[in-house]
Amino acid sequence: MINIKGDKKIINIPNLWKLIERFLSVMGPAYVDHCKRTAYLILKLCEEEHIIEPLKKKLVFAAYFHDIGAIGKNNEYLLNEDYDIYHSIDGYLILKYQSFLKNSSKMVLYHHTSFQNKIFDKYYLPGLKIAICDRFDDWYRHNIPFNDVINNIFNYKNKNFNPIDVLAIKKILSHNDVIYDIKSGKYEDILNEYIQSLKYSKNDAKSFIEMLSSLFELYNETTFNHSKSVSVIAYMLALKMNYSYDDAFKMYFAGLIHDLGKIFIPLEIIEKPGKLTDEEYEIMKGHVKYLEKMADDIMPKEIFNMALYHHERCDGSGYPYKINGDDLTIPQQILQISDVISALLAKRSYKEEYPYEKIKEILDDNIKNNKLNKDIIEVFYKYHEEISNEANEVILNGYIIKEKILKERELLYKQIKDFRAKYNNLPLSNFVKNK
Ligand SMILES: [Fe+2]
Ligand SMILES: [Fe+2]
Ligand SMILES: [Fe+2]
Ligand SMILES: [Fe+2]
Repeated sequence: MINIKGDKKIINIPNLWKLIERFLSVMGPAYVDHCKRTAYLILKLCEEEHIIEPLKKKLVFAAYFHDIGAIGKNNEYLLNEDYDIYHSIDGYLILKYQSFLKNSSKMVLYHHTSFQNKIFDKYYLPGLKIAICDRFDDWYRHNIPFNDVINNIFNYKNKNFNPIDVLAIKKILSHNDVIYDIKSGKYEDILNEYIQSLKYSKNDAKSFIEMLSSLFELYNETTFNHSKSVSVIAYMLALKMNYSYDDAFKMYFAGLIHDLGKIFIPLEIIEKPGKLTDEEYEIMKGHVKYLEKMADDIMPKEIFNMALYHHERCDGSGYPYKINGDDLTIPQQILQISDVISALLAKRSYKEEYPYEKIKEILDDNIKNNKLNKDIIEVFYKYHEEISNEANEVILNGYIIKEKILKERELLYKQIKDFRAKYNNLPLSNFVKNK
């Protein structure tokens, strides 16, 4: 696997979290607020229970992303009565395999379990801490009066929470400032301050965005790792064209974000085998505008524009701005070509992988029709073996990870079914049903 060099400080931490928040807002603003309040509460719980770093950070991240498994799903999934269990499993798998938050992932898995489940795993009790904060916020956001919420948790007859957490939550909620923070929205500032005070490695922004870009690729037919393969192709083309490592990394980063807007496109359209209708195609094209809404004021212009113009074409026939070739920079055109090559190399819902001859034929057509830059494509022809090998490795790796995720997912789903059958259909998350 190619070693990606270059200055990785493309996006600062406050902006990175802004981007994550806007991405998560695909589920609606209430969803983002819920994630943030749960994370704020866990922060307070950590203070009360004297939980220190690094566990504190893991808990806060797990709380922030605890419902991430619900993202990028169709309505059928969300309406399923076992939804709480499925999304906690899916969230766990995303964090485990596709992020650097592996240590937080199991906590997410257990966020709909009960203290009565007595699961033998060191992440089970931390997971229950998220459960109690999550449940508190669920009641709170459904406008149940504050005192009733406290009574609900404290007098909870089913003993679904760890008594230590119950006591801590009761204590926290007896402080007026916590109630004030929640009601006034100040909890956001406190959470942000904490998140921004943490140490981040240079690779963290890259890892976070790789996680986001893979979310909608995970459970549908779109190639898993498409964005990453675009990034690798762009990075290699850039180096072959004598760009510096820093410039090449900018193209790599643009590749990671270029399709982020697809999270806002209905799954039925993204997954549709065969040709899209005109109307569907128009909706699909909207992914670039969604990217613009999400990242316009966040990313450095140079990088943002590479991503924004990835569907523009030299003859002005692209979208959404119909920009002409003369107004497109070489890095912007490198990204366009990398996107096309990645799609041609991989298997898609509407096509198989193409061999080099077929890819060349299609690219030649694009040169002939003045759609894509001839000089860049010729660099690809010259190094096509090396570049395709690297890109294929990323694509293949994507298939392997996806396979692993789907296998573990099937296993966990089955375990839950067996558990229910064995315990007379007692749901694993019985407190959810009883709430
Ligand atoms: Fe949940
Ligand atoms: Fe939740
Ligand atoms: Fe795209
Ligand atoms: Fe793409």
